[in-house]
Amino acid sequence: MKMTSEQQQSIEEWMDFLKIPSISADSNFKADVRRAAHWVQQALLDSGCTTVDLIDTPGHPIVYGEYLIDPKLPTVLVYGHYDVQPPDPVELWKSPPFEPVIKSTELHPDGAVFARGACDDKGQVFMHIKALQKMIADQSLHTNVKFMVEGEEEVGSDHLEDFVKKNKEKLQCDIILISDTGMISNEQPSITTGLRGLSYMEITVTGPNRDLHSGLYGGAVANPINVLCEIIAQLQNEKHQVNIPGFYDKVQEISSEERALMGRIPFDESGFKNSIGINDTRGEAGYSTEERRSIRPTLDVNGIWGGYTGEGAKTVIPGEAHAKISMRLVPDQDWEEISRLFTQQVEALAPKSVSVKVTTHHGGYPYVTPIDTLGYQAAHAAYSDVFGVAPVPHRGGGSIPIVPMFEKELGVKSILMGFGLDTDAIHSPNEHFGLFNFFKGIATIPKFYHHFARLMGAKNQ
Ligand code: BES
Ligand code: MN
Ligand code: MN
Repeated sequence: MKMTSEQQQSIEEWMDFLKIPSISADSNFKADVRRAAHWVQQALLDSGCTTVDLIDTPGHPIVYGEYLIDPKLPTVLVYGHYDVQPPDPVELWKSPPFEPVIKSTELHPDGAVFARGACDDKGQVFMHIKALQKMIADQSLHTNVKFMVEGEEEVGSDHLEDFVKKNKEKLQCDIILISDTGMISNEQPSITTGLRGLSYMEITVTGPNRDLHSGLYGGAVANPINVLCEIIAQLQNEKHQVNIPGFYDKVQEISSEERALMGRIPFDESGFKNSIGINDTRGEAGYSTEERRSIRPTLDVNGIWGGYTGEGAKTVIPGEAHAKISMRLVPDQDWEEISRLFTQQVEALAPKSVSVKVTTHHGGYPYVTPIDTLGYQAAHAAYSDVFGVAPVPHRGGGSIPIVPMFEKELGVKSILMGFGLDTDAIHSPNEHFGLFNFFKGIATIPKFYHHFARLMGAKNQ
């Protein structure tokens, strides 16, 4: 790809941002997370924002910036996050996670930047900063802009709700714009119209008061790991439905018309399997792969540990076993209720021979947005201008719990204009973000502002 010096400069700045290991989950990186917040603050100031504050919370700071032109003009609030997931397992990275490099791939022939956070979400936040800079510089901006970039998204956005509740006036806006999702492919752009909710749980099974010799005691006492596996196995039935009483009670069934419409979006099942190296897919009976990962709820073990996992063999019955389990939820499931139902079911499945403790980590509500809004129309026009192809609405399988929270607290809908690809390996080793995608983002965002201002102006006339 031939690049202008301005584009090269943008890539270098983006790579600088990626060098900061802003891992919100690991307290050893607290200072680095703060450094990333300062980096965002400076980048927003450099782009031309008039005021940019770094707001401390009991966790990681929130960066809030403004470029206000006229209170009579519409206001766009941009949200994103500068924190990243831990890079583990580090040994599977082909280049170090915080030493960004550009490499080409089959899907990114023009090159992609490889680093933790390249796509989720530093790369996509930086697209917005660059787009703002361009619009301020060439005076093409005809809306007010507010930026809220947080550092705790990957750990549940614990302190954002409080900030939003206390700053409703300041955050007042007509639309929230977020690039923290993906699109179908570089040839077929899409706008995310749904997100799943989340309930994240942990189970601890405790057996004997110490690790035991598995010959002397084996067969006579319940092994906590065996019991944990039995409990987990019973949480799904042979149709791969979640076996928790009440779990599906509030699930909105999607009409066959809407399912047929969704089914028209091209999906390459064998490409999907090849890209992750599996021979077959698996999921809830009666639903397609695309449906299973968007409109249906799930239950997955994220981690399981206990007993001896070191080198060689050790004969032992462990005293404890642990598992982290997440459930993806769909409208109208309530994550607090689901967390309660999960706890009750796990307790009901626990035998007397062990004790079982269930705790809730965090959760979030699912989200759907209609496509007949001005915001959606503006996004539709923006993608059409830049890609030469009309974008299609698409429900995502991931979760961004603050999106339904914004709707509840501010009464404002979010437009999810994501530019990543599913294969960009977010949360996995070798995360990357295509240069094509990065620059398409920088080109599409100003078009969104333009069309949104135009449509809002027409409405108010
Ligand atoms: N950006 C993702 C969410 C996402 C990615 C949504 C792709 C749709 C498509 C976000 O950073 C994320 O990872 N969210 C977490 C939830 C959070 C509460 C930890 C998730 O989905 O696991
Ligand atoms: Mn994200
Ligand atoms: Mn993420």
